[in-house]
Amino acid sequence: MTEPAFYDDLAACLAEAWRRLEEGAAHRSGFHAPALATIGSDGAPRLRTVVLRGIDRDGRSLRMHCDARSDKAAEIAADPRVALHAYDAAAKIQVRIEGRARLHGQDAVARAAWAASRPMSRVCYGTAPGPGTPLPAGDAYALPEDEAAVEAGFPEFRVVVLTAARLDFLYLARRGHRRALFTWDGEEPSATWLAP
Ligand SMILES: Cc1cc2nc3c(=O)[nH]c(=O)nc-3n(C[C@H](O)[C@H](O)[C@H](O)COP(=O)(O)O)c2cc1C
Repeated sequence: MTEPAFYDDLAACLAEAWRRLEEGAAHRSGFHAPALATIGSDGAPRLRTVVLRGIDRDGRSLRMHCDARSDKAAEIAADPRVALHAYDAAAKIQVRIEGRARLHGQDAVARAAWAASRPMSRVCYGTAPGPGTPLPAGDAYALPEDEAAVEAGFPEFRVVVLTAARLDFLYLARRGHRRALFTWDGEEPSATWLAP
């Protein structure tokens, strides 16, 4: 069986990781909805699914959206260290990223992301009460009912920009798996194969 061009090429493995992430931000591919981990206030890991909204390969950054009232926003504000996991079963590729996240609210980054998001995505930020609030019944919350109410959710809208410090790439193959680690947290960027 022929292996993909990146199989024995470190730089191509990194390019493949970013290409898959870009594809995930553009469509519902395997990398569309990765898991984002934060550190909880008690120091324990917290994990949830998020949608990838944009990738800046040159800046090594990934963009996601969340509500300012959510646990994840509070956790990132308290400790910006985060991790992200994506796995595409068809491509047999796992990408794990570690780095720091920055929250943007009511600034130029947030305004551009809000303007580019679909009305059905904006609706979530007008939810009352805020995400994570205990409810007396499953349906005891309200969504905004008109456009003005949807737009009134903007102050709760946050853009999460994760800048990668480490990227761990794993490709599963019968002939032998390939695992590569790319880091940008030292003086120089570095790339190495790892035992899978
Ligand atoms: C497919 C899918 C996509 C999701 N996308 C997002 C997202 O982009 N942003 C977000 O804040 N929550 C998203 N969620 C909901 C989160 O997984 C989570 O339940 C919610 O945000 C509360 O998380 P928190 O309490 O850790 O902040 C998504 C859930 C699923 C199942």
